[in-house]
Amino acid sequence: MIRVFADAEELARGAAALFAEEISRAVTGRGRASVLLAGGETPRRTYEMLAGEPLRTTIPWDKIHFFWGDERCVPADDPRSNQAMARESLLDRVPVPPENIHPIACADSPEQAADAYQRELQDHFAGDPPRFDLVFLGLGADGHTASLFPGSAALAEQTLWTVVVHRPGDAFPRITLTLPLLNQARRLLFLVSGQGKSAMLAEIVRGVSASGPLYPAQRVQLHNGEVSWFADRAAAGC
Ligand code: 6PG
Repeated sequence: MIRVFADAEELARGAAALFAEEISRAVTGRGRASVLLAGGETPRRTYEMLAGEPLRTTIPWDKIHFFWGDERCVPADDPRSNQAMARESLLDRVPVPPENIHPIACADSPEQAADAYQRELQDHFAGDPPRFDLVFLGLGADGHTASLFPGSAALAEQTLWTVVVHRPGDAFPRITLTLPLLNQARRLLFLVSGQGKSAMLAEIVRGVSASGPLYPAQRVQLHNGEVSWFADRAAAGC
């Protein structure tokens, strides 16, 4: 269920190795790979490792399409932007064709952006089942993942793949992918680092309560895929 790494650096190394394996499997099997990137800070070191040698040379970057699991609706160069973090740590440092990078551009009109991103996803999968080959997700201390927050109406969305989310306290709206799309992934990796996540990770490990999943991250239950949890010792409480 959970693979525990000594520290954040080893966690990133493990996640980068899994990325390389899954990309190789997808490209060999289907000629391309569709990847969903996580936001926040935890994945940064993994992305940096992917942009470093030997992975920078060995990964078939031209065969990969990059999407985001969620975005804060701020300018693309805003340090809070998930797109900005991924470009700075990875995408600006590896030879991914620009047309293979699919950011969520929602700083102007979130509702229009959500609709547009849904269309972009539909175009990408072109009638095939919308199955990401690899999804990276983070975990919030409150059990959120992507921008699926506890109590959010977005958790009940059964049809749309993208919705606008307003988290109390945020100065900006967000766009998030929804469970109907996330749960079709072939492979999904949660990355959890730091002592601040240990209580929630312990809750997750304890499992779904008799009354059902208490936390958004527990609602990630792939229909036909494999979920892995990678944590460092600080998050695993050991
Ligand atoms: C976001 C992320 C969010 C993130 C978690 C963990 O846009 O905020 O998608 O789901 O993954 O909040 O964030 P950290 O990695 O920064 O702890």
